[in-house]
Amino acid sequence: MKILITGVAGFIGSNLAKRLLEKGHTVVGMDNLNYGFLRNLEFTKNIKEFNFIMGDIANPLILKDVKADIIVHLASQKIPRYTNALRTLEENYLMLRNVVHKCIMDKSKILFASTSDVYGKNPNIPFSENSDLVMGPTTVKRWAYALSKMYGEQYIIANHDEYGLRYTITRFFGSYGPQQNLTWWGGPQSVFIEKAYKNEPIDIHGDGTQTRTFTYVDDTVNALVACIENDKSDNEIFNTGSKEGGEISIKDLATLIWKLVNGKDAEPKLNYIPYSTFGNYEDVMRRVPDITKLCSTLNFQPQWDLEQGLKVTIDWQKQFIK
Ligand SMILES: NC(=O)c1ccc[n+]([C@@H]2O[C@H](COP(=O)([O-])OP(=O)(O)OC[C@H]3O[C@@H](n4cnc5c(N)ncnc54)[C@H](O)[C@@H]3O)[C@@H](O)[C@H]2O)c1
Repeated sequence: MKILITGVAGFIGSNLAKRLLEKGHTVVGMDNLNYGFLRNLEFTKNIKEFNFIMGDIANPLILKDVKADIIVHLASQKIPRYTNALRTLEENYLMLRNVVHKCIMDKSKILFASTSDVYGKNPNIPFSENSDLVMGPTTVKRWAYALSKMYGEQYIIANHDEYGLRYTITRFFGSYGPQQNLTWWGGPQSVFIEKAYKNEPIDIHGDGTQTRTFTYVDDTVNALVACIENDKSDNEIFNTGSKEGGEISIKDLATLIWKLVNGKDAEPKLNYIPYSTFGNYEDVMRRVPDITKLCSTLNFQPQWDLEQGLKVTIDWQKQFIK
């Protein structure tokens, strides 16, 4: 297949491109390098089945001359506090609109990267694909990201209804691993790993009892490959997460990372930062996926548990510690 990946120089995009090329697919990758890195694409140097186009997906002209069987749309503005909520709302919409129009014109399928954040404050754990999406007030800008993805999902389904757009939507639950962004943009793992290596206190937002269910990137990529290669994924939404029992509090994640880096008897240094000191940030207290649908429809089984995945990630990140 010929597959176009937007956001290819980012974390998930570069890992996915590698796997698809290994499997014999042809890949065209696009990125404006705002949050991605060419170092993530070094492995493509001598691979003629890969072509990189640098540019902004919000500009429709960039898509003009490429035709693919499927567009995996990963490019996104994520955390609004890195730029602003307006950019998150506007850029995510513009990019998606361009990709959707292109897919309709070329009769290509879209694989859209959504997020577990769309479940928002829903307290009913675990989340299945039909669970309610519970957002906070529109005056709180952190919801702009989840909202842009919710809008994106509805926009895709509406285009399916009106124009027969073929789609799959994946809601990722905290993916981590090699090539991840080394700042909070990439989630807590990389920031915690750096602090642990430097023997500096790890900042924990709130009291650290908020939980997440993390997914090692190989499992995320396996799920995406299944969505690309298996037609049973057509016009479906899938939670994309890890093994049952993977829920962990942020405090325990920090402790686990500290011990994996500094030895099991090392006492972690944790620095708790009250939400009141960063704009009363509205955190989500628990996030656990039900991945039954993904497993039963696409024959998917997550392979990695957290400790295993963290060991590989820690080893990879060592090269960046100064
Ligand atoms: N990593 C996760 O745990 C996670 C969780 C939930 C959802 N997601 C979603 O998965 C997708 C990929 O996430 P990631 O962690 O790999 O993010 P990432 O930031 O590492 O990669 C996204 C890439 O898109 C590029 N990009 C952004 N705006 C662009 C634009 N206008 N034009 C061209 N390129 C642009 C960035 O430069 C970056 O390389 C995103 O849509 C994200 O919202 C990721």
